[in-house]
Amino acid sequence: MQGEELTIGEHEVIVSHTDVKGKILYANSVFCKYAGYEMEELLGQPHNIIRHPDMPKAVFKLFWQRVLNGESIYAYVKNRKKNGDYYWVKGFTTPIMKNGQVSHILSYRKKITDFQRDMIEGIYRDLVNYERSHSVDESLAYLVNFLAERNMTYDEMVDRLSEDKQVTNADSLQIDQKGYLFDHIIFREHITHHVDMGHTDIEVTKPCCCRFGKFVEASSGKDFTKHPEWKNVDRYHKDVHGKLQEYVDVAQKSADRTRLKSINQEIKDDTEKMFHSLEELIRDDTKKIFGSLNKVINEYA
Ligand SMILES: Cc1cc2nc3c(=O)[nH]c(=O)nc-3n(C[C@H](O)[C@H](O)[C@H](O)COP(=O)(O)O)c2cc1C
Repeated sequence: MQGEELTIGEHEVIVSHTDVKGKILYANSVFCKYAGYEMEELLGQPHNIIRHPDMPKAVFKLFWQRVLNGESIYAYVKNRKKNGDYYWVKGFTTPIMKNGQVSHILSYRKKITDFQRDMIEGIYRDLVNYERSHSVDESLAYLVNFLAERNMTYDEMVDRLSEDKQVTNADSLQIDQKGYLFDHIIFREHITHHVDMGHTDIEVTKPCCCRFGKFVEASSGKDFTKHPEWKNVDRYHKDVHGKLQEYVDVAQKSADRTRLKSINQEIKDDTEKMFHSLEELIRDDTKKIFGSLNKVINEYA
C-alpha cells in the first residue's frame, strides 16, 4: 500500500555517510526524521533500508558505477519511510578518496519541485515496468541511449529538471535560440544606426534572408510546427521584418522621429513575443520528449 507523500522543508538537508558497500556510518537528525528510524537503528544498516520499490534498478546501477569510479553524481530519488510514507529528493553523492581508493561516501539531499517530481516519476515508473522483462543493464542502456538520441546525457537531463525555471530542450530541436535573438537585436541596431547616420540606400533583407528565417523555412512540415505557438513565432517574425522595412521607409520619406521611435518599440516588443512563443513551444516539446520516453518504454515492456 502506498503511504503519504512527505514534504521536505525548504531549508532541510538530509545527510548520510556510508562505507564503500553502502553501509550507513552516519545519518543526521533530518535523515532519521524522514526515514522514521532512530539513529541507533540505522548505523551499520545497508542504505537500501530506505529504498522505495518505485525506484528503477538502472538508476542505482549508474549511481554505483559512478561513485565507485571516484565520481560524484546527482540523482532524483524516491525514498521510503519506515511506515510506508515516501518523499522525493534530489541527492548529491560523492566519494571520499584515500590513496586512490574510495574510502567512504557522502550524500546530501534536498527537496524537489512538483514539476521535477512529475517528470521524473513518469520516467521511473516506466523504467520499473521495463525492468520487469529486461535486465538492469538493458534498462540503463535504454535510458542512456534514448537520452543520447535527443542530445542529452543523464547529467544534462538532471540539470534541465533541476532549476525551477523553464526546462528547455532547444538542442533536440536544433534551435540556436540565443543566437537567433542576438541576430535580431543586432539587425535592428544596424538598421537604426544607418538611419541615424543619414544613409538613404538601406536595404532591409527579407525574412527568408535572416538565419532564423531560413530555419523557419526549412522547418516547414516538421512536427513541432504543428504546435499552436508556431503560428505566433512565424507571425511575429514576419511582423519584425515588416516593421524594419517600415522603419526604413518612414526614415527615408519623412524622418518623423516620433513615428520612428514607436516603430522601433514595436520591433522590440514583437521580437520579445516571438522568442517567448518559441520558448513556450520548446518547453512543451521537452514535456513531450519525456512523455514519449514513457510511451516507447511501454511498447517494449
Ligand atoms: C552515500 C549513499 C547514499 C545512498 N542514498 C540512497 C537513498 O537515499 N535511497 C536509496 O534508495 N538508496 C540509496 N543509496 C543506494 C543504496 O545503497 C542501494 O544501492 C539502493 O537502495 C538499491 O538497493 P538494492 O540494491 O537493494 O536494490 C545510497 C548509497 C550510498 C553509498
